[in-house]
Amino acid sequence: MGPKEDGGGISARVILALDTDSLSQTRRWVKDFLGRIRIFKVGGQLFTSQGRRAVEEIKALGGEVFLDLKFHDIPNTVGRAAAAAAALGVRFFDVHALGGEEMIARAVDVSREEAERLGLRAPAVLVVTLLTSLDERDLRSLGIRGPISDRVLRLSELALRAGAQGVVASPHEVAALRKALGAEFLIVTPGIRLSSQSRDDQKRSMTPQEALRAGADYLVMGRSLLRAEAPERILDSLAESMAQDVFETGSAVGSKDERA
Ligand code: C5P
Repeated sequence: MGPKEDGGGISARVILALDTDSLSQTRRWVKDFLGRIRIFKVGGQLFTSQGRRAVEEIKALGGEVFLDLKFHDIPNTVGRAAAAAAALGVRFFDVHALGGEEMIARAVDVSREEAERLGLRAPAVLVVTLLTSLDERDLRSLGIRGPISDRVLRLSELALRAGAQGVVASPHEVAALRKALGAEFLIVTPGIRLSSQSRDDQKRSMTPQEALRAGADYLVMGRSLLRAEAPERILDSLAESMAQDVFETGSAVGSKDERA
């Protein structure tokens, strides 16, 4: 089911990051959250520990998967990985923008072809521009000059040109990207903190409401929900505040990642 059928509510827009190496923990989290969250992120830790079983278990329980393995290799190799992701039936997977336009385009084309061949829904390809852990000094030491925001914008435009469905971007880049890239391009945003959580984190992050207002389609949330005493209350109050707010891109979310 796509978020559109859900009315674009919060349950369709939060992606829960299953940062664990355990299959039983994965199952517990998916079961606990499934009433309120539908998409679960499988990253390097879980996939390297448990492999495709993690994805299969989430799907068997009724969840959808964002396979966050950030592919970055020569186009042919990424194409093969993209075909495997499509065959796994994930809803999203991601690649690094610095792999270049041809690599991104290959991921998009091959995943679509493989999904078609298997009669599955094609995954949406998301592009990671620059890791949010890098600052301008890190980039300079890599020989990349200029403001991070310019780089992120340029790499996002490359992703759009290559045919990707969206980008993963830090909350602070969302507004500028939304303006530059149009309403249809998906923006998935990690770095979300609830207002009651540590101030230090807040400097580099946004609350869910702020990120959605800035134009994010999906929020990736991990510890702020997984470590909360009553995450269901957090999600319910988010849903309430969303119902009262007008999030400009909200109603459009459902159709954007429909590629089939
Ligand atoms: O910090 P939190 O537990 O919410 O992180 C959830 C996920 O978001 C992590 O799996 C990580 O990959 C991603 N993340 C990120 N950039 C950040 C913070 C988290 O990409 N600044």
